Amino acid sequence: MPNSTTATKHLLTRRSTSIRNMVDPAPSQEDLKTILKIGARVPDHGKRAPWYFIVFDEQARKDIAPLLRESYKQEDPNATDAKLDLESERFLRAPLVIGVISRIREAKHPMWEQVLSAGAVCLNLCHAAHALGYGANWLTEWYSFNDHFKKGLGLDERDNVAGFIYIGTPTCSNEERERPYLSKIVTHWSPDTPLNKGDKEYNQPKFGLPKQGVKFPD
Ligand SMILES: Cc1cc2nc3c(=O)[nH]c(=O)nc-3n(C[C@H](O)[C@H](O)[C@H](O)COP(=O)(O)O)c2cc1C
Repeated sequence: MPNSTTATKHLLTRRSTSIRNMVDPAPSQEDLKTILKIGARVPDHGKRAPWYFIVFDEQARKDIAPLLRESYKQEDPNATDAKLDLESERFLRAPLVIGVISRIREAKHPMWEQVLSAGAVCLNLCHAAHALGYGANWLTEWYSFNDHFKKGLGLDERDNVAGFIYIGTPTCSNEERERPYLSKIVTHWSPDTPLNKGDKEYNQPKFGLPKQGVKFPD
């Protein structure tokens, strides 16, 4: 039986750091390179790299503010100046932000698999940051789904935001978060055993099924 290793401990303890608890310093250039390298080391059916990164370092987090501001007007045309100021400063909440864009490649590999691979990138970035002693948080928020923002960044119809990974130095340790009960979502298969789908525990019937899907190109 394999021993419990440092890697196992890391995987069992990783938690997102709230951006409220992230301060300078940002990862060094060398650490950033390592984080990106680990981010790109994910399963990817067919080696199509169906994702790319947009790094917002110190200055870029400020330079993106006008686009965020303009984009928020699309969300709420009646937003006050104070609200627009607040929204324009979203990327300033952490020392480093890495955008992960899922890009559908022309390939025989199903789009669903290409999108899943982008999700794996996001988690690997979080693991990498954590392993190097930083805090990380995978967020999407409103701007990930805002057409003006996506267009302004240079995304096209094959691109979708998989996430923005906020990274910084944590000011405190993270509280544990409740995890799913494995007994509700794991089935040891046999011909007559009903599947544990977790519906009773994890559905929120008042919302119904999500309407917002991933937009795939034709
Ligand atoms: C695709 C995706 C988007 C997310 N977007 C947000 C978000 O916009 N705001 C938020 O508070 N948490 C968001 N989360 C949740 C956090 O990243 C994180 O899962 C949560 O804070 C705790 O997870 P952890 O304790 O396993 O790190 C998102 C998670 C995923 C997978």
